[in-house]
Amino acid sequence: MSYSKTNQEHWDAAATIHENSPKGYYDIEGFKNGGLSLKRTHIDELGDIRGKKILHLLCHIGLDTLSLARLGAEVVGVDISPKSIEIAKKLASESNLSATFICSNVYEITKLLDDKFDIVFASHGVICWLEDIKEFMRIAEGYLKPKGYFYMMDGHPISMIMTNEPNGKDLKVERPYYRYSNEPIHCEPSEDYANKEVLVDAPTYEWQHSLSDIINAVCSSNMRLEYLHEFPFCDDNYYINMEKDSEGWWRFKSGDMIPLMFSLKATKL
Ligand SMILES: C[S@@+](CC[C@H](N)C(=O)[O-])C[C@H]1O[C@@H](n2cnc3c(N)ncnc32)[C@H](O)[C@@H]1O
Repeated sequence: MSYSKTNQEHWDAAATIHENSPKGYYDIEGFKNGGLSLKRTHIDELGDIRGKKILHLLCHIGLDTLSLARLGAEVVGVDISPKSIEIAKKLASESNLSATFICSNVYEITKLLDDKFDIVFASHGVICWLEDIKEFMRIAEGYLKPKGYFYMMDGHPISMIMTNEPNGKDLKVERPYYRYSNEPIHCEPSEDYANKEVLVDAPTYEWQHSLSDIINAVCSSNMRLEYLHEFPFCDDNYYINMEKDSEGWWRFKSGDMIPLMFSLKATKL
């Protein structure tokens, strides 16, 4: 089976778990009652998006896409997982929000979507699914109107190589930061990040990209990097000794010592 087919099957299984998971990482009931999955940091960085056309790549079950719609944008979401897209469409209709969702591998989306956008958006859990980061940036740039921008927020590559020691006290480096080959990392089935009681019984293939790989991919496209931000917090309690801050981000109790997330903005030339 191809890497993308294996990953699609994993995400179909995970989407079903996420649709039914108790309030936590995904607050579906809160969203239906008028909430947003995006936090103040995203909203401040994006600025006023009312009336903007936004393409959301790797949109999963559409909560961030529909949050952008609730903030006034005209949105299109793309994801490889049919189950994720089915749930996203259902959520849109149950929330009375207008959105278009397309089921496609991001690397094949140009066969299905011919349009231009003010913003191309990608959030949380995107980089590790990208086999070819330069091609991804080229596709994102290709969908932008002149002066439109690409915005992404995701786990910092340094955080992607760390894991908790079984002793429950320490962190360890689990895999190399640098990408020595194009071969993906094979990940065995594991507990779901949004519902840790449940096993997602399907493996994945993932790719590690360093921060410089990501920035150089932006630089190799027809976009100018506006900023790169590094944050000492992340979107879930992935590591030991973390606590939630007032905005809902997770930080180490011992202080802000290493970057756990990044965001970047790049404008089409
Ligand atoms: C971690 S989720 C994104 C999470 C999303 N930001 C959210 O919080 O709901 C990753 C998504 O990427 C999608 N995906 C993985 N590889 C893809 C590809 N090659 N093309 C399109 N979507 C892909 C998966 O189906 C999954 O829905």
